[in-house]
Amino acid sequence: MCGIVGYVGKHKAVSILIEGLNRLEYRGYDSAGVAIQQNGRIEVAKKAGRVANLAREAAKHHFTGTAGISHTRWATHGGVTDANAHPHLSSDDKIALVHNGVVENYDAIKRFLLAKGYTFKSETDTEVLTNLVAYHYTKETTVEGESRFLEAVRKTLYHVEGTYGIAVLCSDFPGEIVAARKGSPLILGVGQDENIIASDVSALVSRTQRVVYLKDGEIVHVTARDFSITTLDQADVSPVIDKVTWSIESAEMGAHAHFMEKEIFEQATALENAMRGRFSEDGSTANFGGLNLNAADFRAIDRFVFCSCGSAWHACLVAEHLIERFARVPVEVDYASEFRYRNSPLDPHSLFFVISQSGETIDTLAALREAKRKGYKVMAICNGVGSTIAREADGGIYQHAGPEIGVASTKAFTSQLLISAMFALYVARMRDMSFSDGVHYVNALKATPDLVRRTLEQAPRIREIAKRYAKYNDFLFLGRLSLFPIALEGALKLKEISYIHAEGYPAAEMKHGPIALISEECPSVFFVPKGEIFNKLVSSMQEIKARKGKIIAIVTEGCELPPGLADEIIPIPDCHEATLPVIATVPVQLLSYYIAVERGCDVDKPRNLAKSVTVE
Ligand code: F6R
Repeated sequence: MCGIVGYVGKHKAVSILIEGLNRLEYRGYDSAGVAIQQNGRIEVAKKAGRVANLAREAAKHHFTGTAGISHTRWATHGGVTDANAHPHLSSDDKIALVHNGVVENYDAIKRFLLAKGYTFKSETDTEVLTNLVAYHYTKETTVEGESRFLEAVRKTLYHVEGTYGIAVLCSDFPGEIVAARKGSPLILGVGQDENIIASDVSALVSRTQRVVYLKDGEIVHVTARDFSITTLDQADVSPVIDKVTWSIESAEMGAHAHFMEKEIFEQATALENAMRGRFSEDGSTANFGGLNLNAADFRAIDRFVFCSCGSAWHACLVAEHLIERFARVPVEVDYASEFRYRNSPLDPHSLFFVISQSGETIDTLAALREAKRKGYKVMAICNGVGSTIAREADGGIYQHAGPEIGVASTKAFTSQLLISAMFALYVARMRDMSFSDGVHYVNALKATPDLVRRTLEQAPRIREIAKRYAKYNDFLFLGRLSLFPIALEGALKLKEISYIHAEGYPAAEMKHGPIALISEECPSVFFVPKGEIFNKLVSSMQEIKARKGKIIAIVTEGCELPPGLADEIIPIPDCHEATLPVIATVPVQLLSYYIAVERGCDVDKPRNLAKSVTVE
C-alpha cells in the first residue's frame, strides 16, 4: 500500500524515480509525485491519477537534480487530489517527505503545529509529519556528531503513534536522504556510487541486487557513496547486505496483456519451485528446512491455528481441510484482523501459522506478533523473501513463486495451496499415514504442475464462456469440502477485478438463503469433482436449474452430468484429493480474468485496491 522510491547518486533522479514508481504502481495508484533537490531547494511535481500523469507533469519541470524522493499513493487520510498527493513540503519549504502508513495522533500534532504558525495545504497526516520534522529542524541540536537533519527526523519519530515508512529530503543537505520504518516495509538498495530507498524490491532491482531490509525502529541516513543505520535510540546497526535472487525480467509482463494473465500461466513453474528439494529421499513425505522444529516437536502439537487475510485466508481454509483430513489434527482458522483483537485462549501445544504472499500485510503481521506475545511459536508460509513476516516468524516455508505484480493473487495463491498440501502430508506421515499412501501422495504432488498445464489448455474455451457471461451482475460460486474455499476464492477474484457482485457458498448451504438470488440473471459456478458427494452436487445443481439459474460446471474429466443440467462445462483433469483445490482454482482464475477483460476493467490495478495492505 503506497510505494516509496528515493534515489541519490550521479544520474538524474527523476527518470529513475519514475521508473521505480511504475514498478511500484501496483501498491497504490490514486496519485503520484516526486521531490527533487536542485539549486539549493526542493522542487515538487505531483498529480492525482496514475504515474503516467505524473510523468507528464514532471517533464514540464525539466528536473536535473541527482537526489529525490517519490511516492505512489493509496489514499488513507484525505481524498484523491493533487494537494493530498505526496511528497509534502513543509511550510518553510525546507523539508519534503513521503510516507506509507498512518499517523494515529496526527490531530494532536497538527493542533500543536498550528499554534506554532505552521500552515497546511492538504488533509493528510503526512503533511503533519513533514511540518513536525521542519519544527524539530529549527531547534538547537542536542546530539553531538549527528546531522541536524537526521536529528530532526529522529525527534519527530519519537512523537509519532502509528505506522510509517518514510523518506525525507532537506534543502540544506543536498545529496542526502533520511528514511525510517515502523510497520511499513522499507529497503535500501546498495548500488555503485548510488543508493536507493524503496518500499519494495521490484523498484530497485533493475539498478542493484544488493539490499538491506530495514527493521522496525531503524533510521537510515543515505548519500550516494555511503549509508549508516541507527535505531531510534541512536544505537548503531551493523547492516546485513542480502542478494535479491530474482531478476528484473521476472517482474516484467513480456508478451502477456496483463500481469494477471502472465501469473496465471506461470503457475505450473511456481508449483515446481515450491516443491524443489522438499521431498524425502524415500519419496514418501515432504521436508521443510526452515521450520526450525524437529519431529518430536511436531508430534507434540495437538492443534494448528492458521491466520491470514483475503486469498491467503482461503488458503488457510484449504490447509484446515487437508490437515484434518490426512493428518487428523484439529485446525482453527481465523481472520488475522479479528485474531489480533480477539483474546483467543492460548493452548501450549498449538502451533500458529500465518500465510502471506507479500509478508507485509499489517493485520497478518499484527496477528503474528500477538500470537508470539501469547507464547505461541509462529510459522509463516510466505512469498516475500526478507519481508517483515518472514523475518519475525520463528520458522517458515518460502513459496519461491517469484514476484506477483497483478493485484489479484493467482500464482501465489495456488502455491500456498500446494505448500499446505505438502505440509498436511508432512504431519500425516508423522502420525497415521502409511508409507505407500505417502508415496502415492508425493507422486500426486509431483504431477500437479503438468495437470495445471493441462487445465490451462482450457483457456480458449473459458474465454468464450466469459464472453457470454460478462453481462451478468451477480454470480454464485458453489463448492463443497476442500472446494468451498475455492468457491470463496472464485467469488473474490471475480468481484475484485470485474466489480461483479459474487458470493462463494458451500453448495448444499445454498438452499438456506442464497437460493433466493437464483434467477436467469444470476449464474452459478459449480465445482463438481468426482467422488462420494458427486451425486449430492448434482442434486444441488438440479435445485438451481429448477429455478432457471444458469450453471457453469467445473467437472472432473470423465464424469457424466445429466444432459442439459449445466449450460457450460469446463473439464478439469482427474487428480488426487490433496491437489484438487490447486487444479480447480485455475478455471475460476481464467473465468474472472476473461470476464474482467471483456468488461474493459483495469485487471492489474482494480479500483480501490492495492497489492500488499500495509495499513489497518
Ligand atoms: C486477493 C488478494 C488479497 C490478498 C490479501 C493478503 O486477490 O490478493 O486478498 O490475498 O491482501 O495479502 P498477503 O498474502 O500479501 O498477506
